[in-house]
Parts: sequence; C-alpha cells; structure tokens
Amino acid sequence: MKVLGINGSARKDGNTEILMNIVFEELETAGIETEMVQLSGRVIEPCRACWACGGKKNCVHKRDMFQEIFEKMTLADGILLGSPVYTANISANMQAFLERASVVTDMNRNEKLLRHKVGAALTAARRGGALTALDAMNHFFMLQDMFLVGSSYWPLAYGQMPGDVREDEEGLNTMKALGQNMAYLLKTLKEGRGRA
Ligand SMILES: Cc1cc2nc3c(=O)[nH]c(=O)nc-3n(C[C@H](O)[C@H](O)[C@H](O)COP(=O)(O)O)c2cc1C
Repeated sequence: MKVLGINGSARKDGNTEILMNIVFEELETAGIETEMVQLSGRVIEPCRACWACGGKKNCVHKRDMFQEIFEKMTLADGILLGSPVYTANISANMQAFLERASVVTDMNRNEKLLRHKVGAALTAARRGGALTALDAMNHFFMLQDMFLVGSSYWPLAYGQMPGDVREDEEGLNTMKALGQNMAYLLKTLKEGRGRA
C-alpha cells in the first residue's frame, strides 16, 4: 500500500514538511510506503474552465506538474494533503491543484478516479486560519467518495520559522495519531476487500 503526500508549502524543509514526515513515520512503521511531492519552487496553474478533461481522466494542460501529480494520486491508496496557512487559508498552489483535481474528477465521474481511497490533511500556522485551511483540504476529499481520517485533535501545529512546530508537543502528537489512524484505516479496508 502507498500514501502520496502533497506538500503545498513554498518552503521545502519547512514546518509542513516536518509534520508530514511525522505522519509518514507512523505509516512506514505500519509497513505502508510513502512518497512526498513538493509544490515548492513550482507554480500550479489554476483551472481554465475549458472542460476539455471530460473523458480524458486527467487535465489536458501540460505546462506544469499537475498531470504527473494527479496520475500519482489515482495510483495511491491514500492521499495526505499538507499546506501551511497563507492568508487564513491554504496556499495558492494547493488551491490551484485542488481546483483542477476537483474538475477532473467531476468531469470523469463514471471513472470513480479517487473512490474509496483514504484521505488526510494537516496544516502548519503561525496563529490564525488553521481550521479554515483544514476544511478546504478535507472538503476536497468529501466529494471524491473517499474516506476521511481524523486524529486526536484537529491536525494542525503552530510555528512560524522552519522547525518551530517541533516545540508544539500537542501538535506533534496529533500528527502521530493521524498517521496511526490512517494506517489503521488503510489496513482495515485492505483486509475487508480481501474477504469480499
Ligand atoms: C504568504 C504567507 C501568508 C501567511 N499567512 C498566515 C496566516 O494567515 N495565518 C497564520 O497563522 N500564518 C500565516 N503565515 C505563516 C505560516 O503559516 C507559517 O510560517 C507556517 O509555519 C509555514 O509553514 P512552512 O514552513 O511549511 O512554509 C503565512 C506565511 C506566508 C509565507
């Protein structure tokens, strides 16, 4: 089994990546493979509302990494979205990515491209907007026939400069629980499918 992580931060090695790696450690301990895609240093273009993705199972525009990342999403068993809070919401790159991914899945509904995959989201914030950012990412999962993973608290941690989130003990514990719950759900679903 494999979980694909998408890091929407402009900073590689920043707080979002630290938090995602804590989730990954729990998944790997449970024997689940992980891969992180970094949006840092790249620009994901917004949806052009051309609807050309209908019947194509991916966006038709190739000027950025979208197609490659979306393809990886369709192949993964689980998807972990991570974004820092920017202006009380997710990063513009993450927003553009989810905007296009939502349109591709909507225009190819019969293909059930992300159906029954497991989704989890986390965020890093300095102070305000973390729940709005989490909601934005979780809303994406909720129209994909996906299963949403919760934690012991909302999966957020506080910090401004890279590494600051390591001081947020409750936030770190929330990430560990998120990883453990994601692993539990993935394994339980796999066992269930084996019986069916
Ligand atoms: C453009 C920008 C906007 C931000 N807006 C907010 C905000 O609205 N609320 C907040 O709590 N933090 C805000 N921050 C701070 C980041 O959320 C915080 O530094 C976070 O830890 C960054 O994660 P990263 O290291 O993964 O980039 C902002 C940072 C940037 C660069």
